[in-house]
Amino acid sequence: MKIRPSKGLTFEDVLLVPRRSPIQSRRDVDTSTRLTDGIRLNIPVISANMDTVTEAKMAIAMARSGGIGILHRFMTIEQQVRQVRQVKRAQGFIVEAPYTIPQSASVMEAAEEMRLRQVGGLLVVDASGKLAGIVTRRDLLLAPAGFQRLEEVMTPRARLVTAAPGISREEARALLYQHRLEKLPVVDENNQPRGLITAQDVASPTHNPLATLDGREHLRVGAAIGVSASELERAAALLAAGADVLVLDIAHGHADHCIEMVKTLRRQFPAAQLIAGNVATREGARELAEAGANAIKVGIGPGSICTTRIVTGFGVPQLTAIMDSVAGVRDSGRDIPVIGDGGIQKAGDLVKALAAGAETVMIGSLFAGTEEAPGSPVIRDGQKVKVVRGMASLGATMGRREAERGHDESAESAEDWAKVVPEGVEAVVPYRGGVAEVLTQLVGGLRSGLSYGGAHNLRELQENAEFIEITPAGIHESGSHDVRKL
Ligand code: XMP
Repeated sequence: MKIRPSKGLTFEDVLLVPRRSPIQSRRDVDTSTRLTDGIRLNIPVISANMDTVTEAKMAIAMARSGGIGILHRFMTIEQQVRQVRQVKRAQGFIVEAPYTIPQSASVMEAAEEMRLRQVGGLLVVDASGKLAGIVTRRDLLLAPAGFQRLEEVMTPRARLVTAAPGISREEARALLYQHRLEKLPVVDENNQPRGLITAQDVASPTHNPLATLDGREHLRVGAAIGVSASELERAAALLAAGADVLVLDIAHGHADHCIEMVKTLRRQFPAAQLIAGNVATREGARELAEAGANAIKVGIGPGSICTTRIVTGFGVPQLTAIMDSVAGVRDSGRDIPVIGDGGIQKAGDLVKALAAGAETVMIGSLFAGTEEAPGSPVIRDGQKVKVVRGMASLGATMGRREAERGHDESAESAEDWAKVVPEGVEAVVPYRGGVAEVLTQLVGGLRSGLSYGGAHNLRELQENAEFIEITPAGIHESGSHDVRKL
């Protein structure tokens, strides 16, 4: 048995000491960073792979704002793959494999297909797969009552403006504008559909200058996988669907089976970007880095819905965990980033995590209350709230078991429930509107923080950082105090 000589610190235990600053305006700073050694982000924020936080809608919003979302893994491989595809289709100047529907389909079938696929239009094809027309949600809305066949409501091929593969963004923009179109099918010389260009996709880079895009101008997205051997199949399917990064998501990442899985993934998918975690120690970070991860996720128990430290007695306060893990990565000789996962509630926490050496942070409960998180808001005690649950909470664990073995009420006894040892809780958080607004506050705080730290960018913030430990009186003084809040 041994006891460490130094205390473990977390965000509230410290402040950053202000420095002389060359920054004149918050606009003069650069918040870009590395998610992995192969992927850059314009803002250092990731939405957590939790089932109350990140599905496709959140991942789209996060990437549009310059961060990235990691799709949780508590769904079938097919469902997760569908979500990756949904993100990839959400934006990009050309949708490369647009959804099609046979010309012989009915109007009702087209409406159902659009609802299922969550798209506003479908290319209509004839029996040999050639483009026969296009049908959009507007056509279905405005079609005279009694029209039942798709052919009656679609815009037929003869009246369609189309583009050839290889069209540039500017050419597409000009065509869409000239004909006041919303959708422009791309067809090859045999009239086979090769893509779809939408007005919104052509225009969107102007609206989202910070968006996180892949080489084809599609939004980037990450997806979580587990540690069992069968998860290799999930990894392969996710990568084939276009996932930009895999997150090997294990509560205790400094474990033999996790290190082995990183090595296996590295061997089987040498080009894949792979984040591994979670760890909270120098040795843990070093070993995952040596095994071949492209970034290390750090945090054992700092999360708002986590009870791991209470239930098991294990954990490391998050600021210390980040600093130790950064040192561990350095020990490995690899130049890969650390992700601070959990415990971020305020912009100041984000600044401290980055100053401590993390290059991004992962956020769960703060985003669970936003519009883009799965689930609808409910009213509780007169306040609009949304649900958040730890992925090791009782409800999430039982839900997962049910999904794995299929719903069988007879098999689910009270005893089963009693055997679960949860390491997380289920809770509600205030409804917070769109995630972009929450990000504006976080990134605004970060920009101010860079100016207090005399830093033009996150690297300088880390280099310049001097932390000062504070007392409970200092913590009290740091918040608003001795006034009655309006
Ligand atoms: P925040 O504080 O942003 O933290 O809500 C999100 C992170 O918490 C972790 N997580 C858990 N940890 N039991 C735990 O000990 C759980 O049930 C649990 N669910 C999520 C996870 O790392 C997430 O990103």
